[in-house]
Amino acid sequence: MSGPASILPLRAHRLAFEAGGTRLLDDVSFILPAGRRTVLLGPNGAGKSLLLRLCHGLLKPSSGEVRWAIEGRRSARRQAMVFQQPVMLRRSAVGNITHALAAHDVPRADRLTRANAALALAGLSHVARRPARVLSGGEQQRLALARAWATEPEILFLDEPTASLDPAATRAVETLIEGFHAADTKIVMATHDLGQARRIADDILFLHKGRLLEATDAAAFFEKPQTKEGRAFIAGELLW
Ligand SMILES: Nc1ncnc2c1ncn2[C@@H]1O[C@H](COP(=O)(O)OP(=O)(O)O)[C@@H](O)[C@H]1O
Ligand SMILES: [Mg+2]
Repeated sequence: MSGPASILPLRAHRLAFEAGGTRLLDDVSFILPAGRRTVLLGPNGAGKSLLLRLCHGLLKPSSGEVRWAIEGRRSARRQAMVFQQPVMLRRSAVGNITHALAAHDVPRADRLTRANAALALAGLSHVARRPARVLSGGEQQRLALARAWATEPEILFLDEPTASLDPAATRAVETLIEGFHAADTKIVMATHDLGQARRIADDILFLHKGRLLEATDAAAFFEKPQTKEGRAFIAGELLW
């Protein structure tokens, strides 16, 4: 028996984004299938965050389009996004998750069970009743991932999710990301951190100055980038 139809693949077709007369993203096209972990790599200012926001529907492109295999309400709810700085409501940790589940029309009777399971997965059961905003940076980021987990997304966008975290908290977040991947959630993560990209990526989208310069298998990219910018980036010589 086949499951419900998927919103994937995601197709970005000739995306451009302009602000203040500057073209910040130019002619970006790619296809993101289910399964493989895609890392958006590039130096600061390359356009990674803009591209994630366009994909997730938080911004409208100046031209071009983002297409899901199934459009409309269903595609909107089947995606989640986690930011560098977690966005927490003025509620308890568990309340942040049950609120998200209500917004996803999960029946009230199921919300607490699902929220508690997600908190347990993220190692946060002991802080469930604490106000989310008093949790440490690492705990808040794990809570953001737990909240995303509870909504069972088909695709998870992550924008530099560990950029503000110490090594131990980074490892915890990377382990949770691995859990999403194991559960067949498509991972699309922006990072400027080469080590993290090497640990996580199956595929690389390499962006520089608003243009997609390489879209390739991660092993191939790290072995032999096809552009001089890609080579410079891997050598640590491409600063922006
Ligand atoms: N709303 C905006 N208006 C004007 N410029 C923007 C806006 N958002 C981002 N930028 C600029 O676009 C470029 C790409 O930004 P961003 O996507 O945040 O890069 P990255 O995430 O790769 O570091 C940067 O030069 C940034 O200053
Ligand atoms: Mg960014």
